[in-house]
Formats: sequence, C-alpha cells, structure tokens
Amino acid sequence: MEASPKPNGVLAAIEERVPIGKALRSFLHESIPGGARWAYVFGSMCLALIALQAITGIVIAAYYVPSPDHALTTLEYVEKEVPFGRVLLGVHHWGANILVGLVLVHVAQAFVFGAYKRPREAVWLSGVVLLLLVQAFHFTGYALPWDQEGYWATEVGTALARNTPFIGEWVMRMMRGGPEVGAVTLTHFFAIHVMVLPAIVGGAILLHLVFLRLVGPAGTFRADAERETRAATGFFPHQVFKDAVAITLLVAVVVGLAAWQYHPHRALANPSDTSFLPRPEWNFLFLFQIQKLFPGSLEWLAALVVPALLVGMVAAVPFFITALQNAGFQAKIAPALQAFLSAPGELTIEAKPLQPVPFSIVLSTAEDAPQNLPDLLSIEITNR
Ligand code: HEM
Ligand code: HEM
Repeated sequence: MEASPKPNGVLAAIEERVPIGKALRSFLHESIPGGARWAYVFGSMCLALIALQAITGIVIAAYYVPSPDHALTTLEYVEKEVPFGRVLLGVHHWGANILVGLVLVHVAQAFVFGAYKRPREAVWLSGVVLLLLVQAFHFTGYALPWDQEGYWATEVGTALARNTPFIGEWVMRMMRGGPEVGAVTLTHFFAIHVMVLPAIVGGAILLHLVFLRLVGPAGTFRADAERETRAATGFFPHQVFKDAVAITLLVAVVVGLAAWQYHPHRALANPSDTSFLPRPEWNFLFLFQIQKLFPGSLEWLAALVVPALLVGMVAAVPFFITALQNAGFQAKIAPALQAFLSAPGELTIEAKPLQPVPFSIVLSTAEDAPQNLPDLLSIEITNR
C-alpha cells in the first residue's frame, strides 16, 4: 500500500494531528435558508455580551472582596485606582442590563420567525433555561456591591422564597446561608455569581448551539415563499459580517454608556434603616407588581405559582402553539399570545420604575433584620 503523502510545513503537520481548520470550515459553512439577515444577529450579540461580562467580571473579581465591610470599598478602589476601573465597572453594570434586554429581543425574533417550531423545541427549551440563568446572574450580581439598593433587594428577594409551601423557611435559609441576610449571604451570592453560574451558563450555551446546529437554522417565517426568491447563503461570510458589525456597535454603545453614564455605587448597606424602600431592578419589577395583586395569605401564589406558570407557559410555547394550530385555533393564537407576552411589560410599567416600591414584605422582614452588619470575622465562628 502506498504511504500517505507527508504534510508540507508546520501548519499542515499540526492540521493533520489537530484538524482545527477542517472543524472551523465545517462550522462556518452552514447554510441559512432564505439567506443571511440582520434579524439573526441577536443570538450572537447575547453571546458576545456574556463574554464581555465574563472578561470584565473576572478583572473586577481580582480586586473585589465579598465581605460587608470590604465589598463597596474594594469597588471604590477599582473605580478610583485601577486604570480604566470606572469604565470596567460601568461596562459590567450596563452590559448586565443590556444583556437582559437583548435576550428578550432574541426571544421575540425567534418567536416571530417561528424558530421554536418542530424540530427546534430543544433549541427553544435550552433558551428558556438561559433566560432564567441570566436573571439569576442579575439577581446575585445586584447584591455584590453591598449598597443599600443591593442589600434590600436581596432582603426582599430571599424573603419571597419563604412563601414556598412546606419548605419555604429552608429555601430562604439556604439562599441566605442563615436566618438573616448578612456576610454569609454575600459570600454565597459571590460564589454563585462567579463560579456556579458561569459554569452552568457555559454548558447551557454549548447545548443551545449544538441543538441548533443539529437541526439547522429555521430561516424566515416566509421561508417557503422566500426560498424561491432568495437563495440560501452560507453562515460565512454573509451572516458572520452582519454579526461582526452588530457586535462592534454593541460594544461601542456599552463602553460609551460606561464612560459617560456610569453611576457610582451609592450608600453602604444599612440593615437597620427600615425607612429605606427598595426599588427592585427593572427586570424583576413585574414580579413585585404581581405580589401586590395577591395580598396577605395569598402571597405564596404571587411568589411561586404565578412565576412558575409564566415560565412554564414560555417553555410550552412550541408545544401548545402547534396543538392550537392543529386544533384549528390559528386565528385566536396571535391575540392570546400577544396578551400573555405583553403582560409582564405592562406590569413593569404599572410598577412605575421611578417610584420606590412599598412592600408589606419589606417591613415584615425588616423586623428580623440584624441591627448591625455582622462582621465577617466574628460571625458564626463563636456559635459553632
Ligand atoms: C464570569 C462571569 C462573571 C463574573 C466573574 C462576574 C463578577 C462580578 C463582580 C465581581 C461583581 C461586583 C462588582 C460590581 O458590582 O460592579 C459583579 C456585579 C454584577 N454582575 Fe457580574 N460577573 C459575571 C457575569 C455576569 C453576567 C453574565 C451578568 C448578567 C446579568 C452579571 C450581572 C451583574 C450585575 C447586575 C452586577 C451588579 C453591578 C452593578 O449594579 O454595578 N454578571 N459581577
Ligand atoms: C444567554 C442567552 C442566549 C444566547 C447566548 C443565545 C445564543 C443564540 C445564538 C448564537 C443563536 C444562533 C443565531 C441566531 O439565530 O440568533 C441562537 C438561536 C436561537 N435561540 Fe438563542 N440564545 C440565548 C437565549 C435564548 C432564549 C431565551 C430563547 C428562547 C426562549 C432562545 C431561542 C433560540 C432559538 C429558537 C434559536 C434558533 C433560531 C433560528 O433557528 O433561526 N435563545 N441563540
């Protein structure tokens, strides 16, 4: 048998053993039905923003100390002493908020284009998991500066978990690392934010993209008509070019906002200040508004059942829409879905983002709050 020809040059020799070029070519040469579109840039923008969050987050974490006494001070150090520290903090702050918005735009695009339909259910479901993980990133990150806003949002958010039937107290204690929000809550949230969530999100993104690659991109909602007029194009160079332009603009906007619109962290958390009325982050406002609709003994419905139903309905979109279509309810689907999907937006507007949100729950948990911030070095050690 004839020996296979020897590879020519160092690169060819490496390629023979680790065929990166071949893998890259097959990755880039995917065909997009109906051609490349600006509408398809949002998934890649989310991906780029998560990478930017990871880069800025890791640099900040190199200085940040997760203790009530040091969190804000170390962030102030980053802001004032680290070169471009203010921009770094600003990029992480704006990036987090823009990411939530972009994910929603990406969901809307996938929804309008019908990209959730059979056989893309797995892509959609892994997306729903990503949506929840991004919210978890936001919730845990918000506590880290240990300022008044972050502290009280954590106090309220974890108090809501107490409404879980039967195991509520346990869930709340697990989140807080004890009965009250304090130093251990901060270290818990820090570990979740910088270790647990990045690992899980990395895996979930990989799954999302593998699922997508296995079934291929959906194309447009007018796919059949367009296939006749617009030929399929490759992912490279057409879509890659559009993605690159969108990502460049995105990074410019985020860095621009960080440089010119950065809000420094505010007052240090003060658990004994019961007059402080927390203002949840905008992406959680609708949940707090729902809370107002179910007062007293029905609070558990708002804290648990309604959010679970909402997530369940978003996850079920690929299944119930197809079922409704098959059952001949085609005309009723659009208005029903519009009402369902716009509800969280309307509740957010109703919650008047610029007004503090008064909560019975805040007052009830404030009574349990420690009068002084526990010192990281003295807490629990004496009790154990
Ligand atoms: C590997 C990834 C990440 C690391 C290592 C990291 C690390 C950090 C650190 C050290 C802080 C405290 C500094 C500060 O408050 O500015 C922080 C805050 C924060 N993080 Fe992250 N982070 C990561 C990813 C993310 C992602 C993907 C989000 C997306 C929602 C996010 C959202 C936030 C938010 C909302 C804050 C509060 C920032 C503020 O209000 O100024 N983080 N993060
Ligand atoms: C961190 C969050 C997310 C990231 C990084 C991400 C990333 C991506 C990327 C890179 C693509 C391929 C390009 C594109 O079509 O835009 C994509 C496609 C897709 N994503 Fe996401 N995604 C995220 C969240 C979601 C969510 C929350 C959903 C739905 C609930 C979702 C559903 C889909 C669907 C259905 C497709 C296929 C689109 C098609 O076939 O045209 N994704 N995603």
